[in-house]
Amino acid sequence: MISNTAPLHPVDLIRKKRDGEPMTDEEIRFLVAGAARSSIPLEQLSAWLMASWIRGVTVEETRALTVAMRDSGEKFSPSRLGKTAVDKHSTGGVGDKTSFLVAPIAAACGLAVPMISGRALGHTGGTLDKLESIPGYRTALSLAEFESVLRHCGASIVSQTLSLVPADRVLYSLRDRTGTVENVGLICASILSKKLAAGLDGLVLDVKTGSGAFLRRREDAEQLAALMVATAEAAGTRTVALLTDMGQPLGRAAGNWIEIAECVELLRGERNPGSEDVRELSLKLAAWMIALGGKAPNVESGYKLAESALEDGSALAVFLKMVDAHGGDGSVFDNLAAFHRPDVTEVLNAWESGIIAEMDTTAIGWAVQRTGAGREAANDSGAPAESLGWEPVDPHAGIVFHARRGARVEKGQPVATLYATTPAQMEEAVARLRAAIRIAAEPAAAPPPLVSRVFDRESAEAFLANPVKVKKQGIVSRE
Ligand code: URA
Repeated sequence: MISNTAPLHPVDLIRKKRDGEPMTDEEIRFLVAGAARSSIPLEQLSAWLMASWIRGVTVEETRALTVAMRDSGEKFSPSRLGKTAVDKHSTGGVGDKTSFLVAPIAAACGLAVPMISGRALGHTGGTLDKLESIPGYRTALSLAEFESVLRHCGASIVSQTLSLVPADRVLYSLRDRTGTVENVGLICASILSKKLAAGLDGLVLDVKTGSGAFLRRREDAEQLAALMVATAEAAGTRTVALLTDMGQPLGRAAGNWIEIAECVELLRGERNPGSEDVRELSLKLAAWMIALGGKAPNVESGYKLAESALEDGSALAVFLKMVDAHGGDGSVFDNLAAFHRPDVTEVLNAWESGIIAEMDTTAIGWAVQRTGAGREAANDSGAPAESLGWEPVDPHAGIVFHARRGARVEKGQPVATLYATTPAQMEEAVARLRAAIRIAAEPAAAPPPLVSRVFDRESAEAFLANPVKVKKQGIVSRE
């Protein structure tokens, strides 16, 4: 049969987007396939991305882009595991270590958690770098190994493989180099395509707002959260998004090993006032994973199950099993403090008496990065993730906070302990941290709640239908 469909040409699609006409699903699939197979030149993909950034990406185009990118490579099929598969994604922040708690909690409640994670970049930390601070832990597994670990433990946290979502590797790298990252439609498709390629039944999104968030402004974070929920639901995955506070580091440690150690303490049932927020947020995220995965009739019952898994040691057992299955040496958990061997240690004491009125959490994230715990940027050659030449990070570097936003401190009282790789790095990290914390006579405005809003499918669709709230072009504000 002769097809009556005219062949598509990239230049026609660039013109169409440039002129503000909506694109069809077929046209988007064509461009995404061209990115994944390198059959469309990078300059044409770049022009289309810039036209999309300027003209905006509609809700329908975002859905088509997400699905086309999800399907651009190999996919993981957790259905063979015989369990419901759920995951959590966070838009990133400082000290954000909830993955090490929610994955074992949800797995202990009978769910499969196939978690594909990222690395530290800029002011935010990376789940994979934190896990690799455990000697021997391998994050790069084949899909067959990933499945085997999931079968054995219920949870596995791994890096992106070359075969998953190849279109995003090309498009994200181009966006990074062409100033087209900041658009909620493009961000949504990039994040969700990678998550949905893991074949999830349920997904919980932790969208951060506040001084340490990728999207600082609440309106941008709300728009991204609503768009991601509506898009993932339309693609067949039950999804909720929690808008959560990143106005100070989450928990008391920000770094690599020190964050793992904080989580192991929590998994052992130990409580510490500085870790209460990370414990609470993890329970709330896990509660939604458990409810979406059908292991509890509602989120309140999900919370109770999550808390039991944390308190009865079953989540700890999953975590230890997962570390072992990834080749990690669990004996380092026998004495958490003894394993921590930083090169340079310094305590930052309060320089005056008063109240910790403000913590510029992005600046704090950069201080953490400067200790040696993170990296400034990935090699932007556009090469595949595994060959990007990620700079190694110092597993023992980072910052432990002794005072939180709103706390009263007396001059000379320890505010934080910093661990750095070299004295020069320490000097810069201390200066950055000090500049990021404001001590004042009065507290600043009351801090927002840890979870300020939850979007489910209905509320996300209602939000997106409101033209006053939704900025037409979906362009993220730049401050
Ligand atoms: N993280 C991603 O994976 N993609 C984006 O576009 C932005 C953040």
